[in-house]
Amino acid sequence: MDRLLEVEKLSKDQILHEVSFVMRQGEMLAVMGPSGSGKSTLLYNVAGMDQPSGGKVWLRDTEITGLTEDEKAKLRLRRMGFVFQQMNMMANLNILDNILLPVMQANKGAGRKRRASLVMEARALMQKLSISGLEERNITQVSGGQLQRACICRSMMNKPEILFADEPTGALNKGAAAGVLAELARINHEGTAILIVTHDSKVASNCDRVLYLLDGRICGELTLGKPAAGMDRQREEMVSRWLMEMGW
Ligand SMILES: Nc1ncnc2c1ncn2[C@@H]1O[C@H](COP(=O)(O)OP(=O)(O)O)[C@@H](O)[C@H]1O
Ligand SMILES: [Mg+2]
Repeated sequence: MDRLLEVEKLSKDQILHEVSFVMRQGEMLAVMGPSGSGKSTLLYNVAGMDQPSGGKVWLRDTEITGLTEDEKAKLRLRRMGFVFQQMNMMANLNILDNILLPVMQANKGAGRKRRASLVMEARALMQKLSISGLEERNITQVSGGQLQRACICRSMMNKPEILFADEPTGALNKGAAAGVLAELARINHEGTAILIVTHDSKVASNCDRVLYLLDGRICGELTLGKPAAGMDRQREEMVSRWLMEMGW
């Protein structure tokens, strides 16, 4: 199997209990579950942003849980992308500079030529995500949906092997959420794996597979496969039925 991410018996204090799963290359995997069930904690521990109390995580051949904090920070900058509900944009930088911030950090010491080519890449991504023209805006001068699109641009600048998203549509209205979901689906279609925590069954129904987390344990799994045209309603119904079984 084309294994991308392997999580083996991952534990965190009393919050996560020996959670295990494998993600394939190009997979879009959703994690659902009640509030407080440990979804965000799982994401942070898998991505090496937190120190698990037990278990192992591999990204391809790299054992993340065996790295130093410094190595983990570099790995995140070079090989992972992040999109969160609360968006974490810097208020003192404009949209373009926010998008460039992590990739510039990953390319520290790079010359002016490299910076110029990164700016071009950022502009191309912004165009793809329909937020061209907002480069110079302050983060308070764009809508929630536009800001989340900018976060997606930022997360894609280093061409990550995997994107981690924690309720990326949670703070958005329905229309903006649908737009952000469409962008994530496109990014996944183009080959980037996505691990996404969501409360939204519409988001989950766009994924290949859904895990259900309860009290820090995976207690259910639904396999949907890649989305196919005209199957949206059926997939959403499957997710709804499954969530009812799970006690959602
Ligand atoms: N930094 C922390 N220290 C102690 N407990 C925490 C911390 N962060 C979260 N928790 C607790 O861990 C549990 C899982 O939290 P979280 O992963 O945020 O859940 P979810 O994302 O599913 O809502 C909750 O009971 C929460 O109160
Ligand atoms: Mg959470």
